[in-house]
Amino acid sequence: MQATCSSACEGSLRKRENVLFFKRWLKHPLQMGTLAPITPRLAKLAASQVKDPSGLIVEIGAGTGRLTRALLARGVKPENLVLVELDEDLCSFLEQTLSELPECKSSSPKVIHGDAAKLAEIIPSSFVGKVLTVVSAIPFMYIPEEARKNIIKSCFEVMVPKGEIVHVTYNPKSPLAFMNTIQQERVGSLWYNMPPGFVWKYYANYIH
Ligand SMILES: C[S@@+](CC[C@H](N)C(=O)[O-])C[C@H]1O[C@@H](n2cnc3c(N)ncnc32)[C@H](O)[C@@H]1O
Repeated sequence: MQATCSSACEGSLRKRENVLFFKRWLKHPLQMGTLAPITPRLAKLAASQVKDPSGLIVEIGAGTGRLTRALLARGVKPENLVLVELDEDLCSFLEQTLSELPECKSSSPKVIHGDAAKLAEIIPSSFVGKVLTVVSAIPFMYIPEEARKNIIKSCFEVMVPKGEIVHVTYNPKSPLAFMNTIQQERVGSLWYNMPPGFVWKYYANYIH
């Protein structure tokens, strides 16, 4: 699969998103989790873990869209992708920049300004109960355990019974290790990344 835009276009987009991401980190450091978007290599690794790119996908904590673009490059159709982001400025940036991509000429992923803990209320009703994969880069390590549980419960509420959560983190340990009713597996590691990055999968056999 080809990159989503030319290298010059991707280069200028990365500069703009790095600046915006840093500004949002200054304002909400814990909510953002890091001071820069994930690296393109880590984004690609996470996107490669989506088992069926033709399924319905929800990305939570979409930030400036680095991972979103990797999902589109993986072959996810814009109309099958919903993005949920808590920061309004990042939502505007996502809407503007995604609509400029060649893949999004006829339709762009739907961007929703809202809380990942309330997915069933905020995503389109046509997605509820049909989502195959939730892709997450939410900085769980800075979120209290009860709030993490609420986000995971919200993801499982909108997924098909065999759905999966693909989660990117900078912690080699699972941020959901305390939830022992969830089947969890580390499916990717990028030690030579700055900082090292890891991809976890959580399976939808969670007992509500
Ligand atoms: C590490 S950044 C995301 C990085 C981004 N996906 C990328 O590709 O670089 C985490 C994002 O999660 C968002 N976020 C944190 N808590 C959230 C929540 N409860 N619901 C939705 N988004 C949330 C933050 O605003 C931030 O944009």
